[in-house]
Amino acid sequence: MSRIALTFALALLCACGKNQSPAIAKDPFAPPLGLDGPALIVDALDPITEEKVALGRILFFDPRLSATSKMSCATCHPPEKSWVDGEALSAKFDGTKNTRNTPSVMNVGYLEKLYWDGRAPTLEKNIVAAWKNQMGGKPDEVAKSLQAVPAYQAMFKKAFAAPASEDTIGRALGAFLRTLRTGNSAFDRFITRQEPTALTADQQAGFALYNGKAGCVVCHQPSLFTDRGFHNAGIGMDAAKPDPGAGGEKARNDAKFIGAFKTPTLRNVSRTAPYFHDGSVASLREAVKLMASGGKDNPNKDPLLLDRKLSDQEIDQLVLFLQSLDGTDAFTRPSVPQ
Ligand code: HEC
Ligand code: HEC
Repeated sequence: MSRIALTFALALLCACGKNQSPAIAKDPFAPPLGLDGPALIVDALDPITEEKVALGRILFFDPRLSATSKMSCATCHPPEKSWVDGEALSAKFDGTKNTRNTPSVMNVGYLEKLYWDGRAPTLEKNIVAAWKNQMGGKPDEVAKSLQAVPAYQAMFKKAFAAPASEDTIGRALGAFLRTLRTGNSAFDRFITRQEPTALTADQQAGFALYNGKAGCVVCHQPSLFTDRGFHNAGIGMDAAKPDPGAGGEKARNDAKFIGAFKTPTLRNVSRTAPYFHDGSVASLREAVKLMASGGKDNPNKDPLLLDRKLSDQEIDQLVLFLQSLDGTDAFTRPSVPQ
């Protein structure tokens, strides 16, 4: 530490000692460029703190949470692959296959309802369900094994003034996931910083199509590139036993919601193949083509989806535009305490 920095730190300590409020550090949870509009959904009684985030960040990578001690959240949501596993449908801890594609966990702190069908009303409920169902996690046993690790014991105490439990593990993971935000893309520099060269001419043409002729913007609304709603695009509706999606929820048993799935964000979409709730489409170009041609016909298809009669060149321009939504989200895995 330089002498100036040391003097500064001492001055701060003195200020605290005199019961004055300490200097406020730069907000470590400030949103990336382009995301200062929407508010994160946070329980006022459970604010995000650095201690909870630091703990959740480690728990996300800890295989102790699983029944097999071999699987962590990051097995299916690895940061190096934009928090998806690249599988159409991935296997759970016991080898059974999921029926839906793994979504990214970026920007999930903005979602009012989670999962493809919106069945989880809070991020914490989603996390605890994922922990039990995907990983076979047994909260009481896991809590015990974490409390036996001194480093964890100290971290839970610092973050919650309470030991590891289903509740504190879920909340730590929730605080961490809320910090996973993607923005700062070429698109954000184009819009927010008004850098006209941030997008190429083709990307700008793609953006105009997106907002106009192609009609994508009504559902994939900026700045999150989702309306956080549920729509039937007909994906998988031709299966022998179609997934009812949001219509499977008793509370929402309305024909409009049969086969409706959450509008996924298009941020980082070029990195999260394969696509759709069933992982049925391998390339971004194919996915864009399918959406621009009005999805797949079925009785409950959303009327907003129409065949936009785009040329091959226009599809290419849309794809190039979507690539401009890729964020700059470097992430380093933490080490898990032994
Ligand atoms: C075996 C793979 C697997 C593991 C392990 C896993 N997940 Fe997931 N995750 C999925 C799948 C598949 C879905 C989508 C399920 C659905 O929508 O019905 C999902 C959905 C989610 C979502 C909802 C995202 C959205 O856009 O609605 C969150 C958040 C999430 N997982 C977090 C976690 C956390 C935290 C852990 C660890 C406790 C975890 N996941 C472990 C496969 C996995
Ligand atoms: C009526 C609302 C609506 C409109 C309009 C719409 N989408 Fe979508 N989009 C969705 C929904 C809902 C899904 C998920 C469907 C599913 O998986 O069953 C989706 C999925 C996607 C996906 C796959 C993303 C992923 O992560 O799996 C891409 C890419 C996509 N849309 C691009 C577009 C483009 C490009 C347009 C304009 C041509 C467009 N969409 C128009 C609602 C819409």
